Amino acid sequence: PPVQHFTLPFVVPPVQRPVRDDVSGTYYAMTQRDASIEIIPGLRTPIMGYEGVFPGPTIMARSGRPTIVDHTNRLAVPVAVHLHGGKNPPAQDGHPTDLMAPGTARRYAYPTDQRGATLWYHDHRLDFTGPQVYRGLAGFHIIRDAVEDALPLPAGDKDVPLLITDRLFEADGTMYYPSSDPSLRTPGLYPWAMNGQYGDTALVNGVPWPRMEVSATKYRFRVLNASNARHWDITLDPPPPSGDPFVQVGSDGGLLSSPVGLRNIVMSPAERFDVVIDFARYPVGTRVVLVNNDRTIPVVTELMCFDVVRRETETATVPARLAPPLDLPDPADAVGIRHFDFTRRADGMWGINGAMFDDRQSLASPALGSTEIWEFTSDVAHPVHLHLVHFRVLSRSRPQSPEPWDGGWKDTVRVRPGETVRIVSRFEGWRGKYVFHCHNLEHEDMMMMANFTVQ
Ligand code: C2O
Ligand code: CU
Repeated sequence: PPVQHFTLPFVVPPVQRPVRDDVSGTYYAMTQRDASIEIIPGLRTPIMGYEGVFPGPTIMARSGRPTIVDHTNRLAVPVAVHLHGGKNPPAQDGHPTDLMAPGTARRYAYPTDQRGATLWYHDHRLDFTGPQVYRGLAGFHIIRDAVEDALPLPAGDKDVPLLITDRLFEADGTMYYPSSDPSLRTPGLYPWAMNGQYGDTALVNGVPWPRMEVSATKYRFRVLNASNARHWDITLDPPPPSGDPFVQVGSDGGLLSSPVGLRNIVMSPAERFDVVIDFARYPVGTRVVLVNNDRTIPVVTELMCFDVVRRETETATVPARLAPPLDLPDPADAVGIRHFDFTRRADGMWGINGAMFDDRQSLASPALGSTEIWEFTSDVAHPVHLHLVHFRVLSRSRPQSPEPWDGGWKDTVRVRPGETVRIVSRFEGWRGKYVFHCHNLEHEDMMMMANFTVQ
């Protein structure tokens, strides 16, 4: 169904209200349920939603304060809730085999003993993460802290989350997903979808190609690529007459120590980029389009537009120093190097070092507190994600150095076809079993995942 670009109003996902807030933490309740919502004007789209909405409601958390979320599963399928970017004990992490059966409830308790950052929560059911996230089970979980509060960055309604996805719609408004069993009882994808599910419709915060009215001032956008498989290469059209389109202030793991100007940003699934755009560089009346230069088929050339509709006195600045120097892991401290090859297997499934996910095994057992270098190689592009830890991108084989957007703390790194990427990570926090995997959700469901056990 065709949607006219830039006709639907931009919206921000609702913020979830706590049910209780006391010395022990901030408590939330969330029900996962089927719902039918209007995404394409005039049509109804069945979704699976946290609180029956898509994207799910945003949780606004505070560093140093435990966050407790009581989930109820009213869906017809099992679920697991993973807080992506969260440093949590194994039992709270939403491991793909740690499932909530239909009709059950369970508490996820997050210590939130980590710096401010843009996290997101999403479904992680083994073999079915792709279809369940696609149908709507994803939302923001933003942690704020005192370092960020003290900065003069754009705030309030100028601190805007953008959850970017692509979807394919049937004529009746249903989201099309290539499951061989649409009831999601038996795993499997049609063979032609093994590379990933791509849509022709861009959704920003669940709205196709929205139009946002902005003042001629700075805005901060927390951009999340929540697509199942699509990598986006975003920039502004027209480009600003001076300076870079984006000033990056944060990455997956929170603020950078100093801002980085970026001409474009290449985002693989699950990565977050916290950027400031200064609309004061455009005359009032300008339409600025957020465009995509990645040409994966079906090609999606545009995401949303910003209409600069009014002047306003600027109150925000981007300081040269955003945060104290980051305590990034030092490769000199690494006790070893592990190699993981992300490639398709001869049987058509996706593997890590040739192996499919097997919950009885761990591909790595780093010692608690140790630093390790992990090296990733790939056949096609794979976004590699580790649970529990944040890491530093150390090197890429081409170019030799990390990309300009690789800075700061990362939890997901894009490995390009034929590339070798090295990261360095400190395995801090808890002992126990976690996963690392490709965040192309179709690759993940088709077994490109493994356990690692911190011991
Ligand atoms: Cu965003 Cu293992 O997940
Ligand atoms: Cu992959």
